[in-house]
Amino acid sequence: MTQPMVTGRRVRAVVGACGAALLAAVAVAQGGATVWDGVYTAEQAERGREIYATTCAVCHGPALGGVESAPPLTGDQFNANWSGTTIADLAERIRISMPVDKPGTLSRPQLAALVAYILKVDGFPAGTAEIDPQLVTSSPVKIVSNKPE
Ligand code: HEC
Repeated sequence: MTQPMVTGRRVRAVVGACGAALLAAVAVAQGGATVWDGVYTAEQAERGREIYATTCAVCHGPALGGVESAPPLTGDQFNANWSGTTIADLAERIRISMPVDKPGTLSRPQLAALVAYILKVDGFPAGTAEIDPQLVTSSPVKIVSNKPE
């Protein structure tokens, strides 16, 4: 009688550990995911940081705080502009218009990494799956500045 119970507990523990990742995946698939669900990885954001430093920082500032006509890409003003939109909206905006002096030059992996970095600096958590570069401009993941209940 003891052995099956131990096995049962183990199974439940494994299911529990996978459960969180599974729920996040289901949320993404159903279009209900938000940037609070861990939708990029730390490594992807790190690649984005390097691209940002060489391609964007000259105008938007080293800490994304904005300089003159280039708006901040983090904090209250950024959240006010982008909360309620999606990763697709942000990625597409960057794709078609940035960098201002060379629009349309970013690859999809670069776009996805930049979005990951912007999310990271704005305080949204990293997770275990990257933003898929092929889907970045169609990603339904919602940008919401306040963590949903
Ligand atoms: C030559 C200067 C310059 C460079 C380089 C540049 N930007 Fe911009 N960016 C601007 C200016 C100016 C605006 C506002 C006017 C506009 O939208 O064209 C802007 C607007 C934006 C916006 C819209 C922000 C908002 O809330 O409305 C985003 C997002 C953005 N830039 C991201 C980027 C990223 C990511 C890079 C690097 C790949 C980049 N920019 C490089 C000057 C620049």
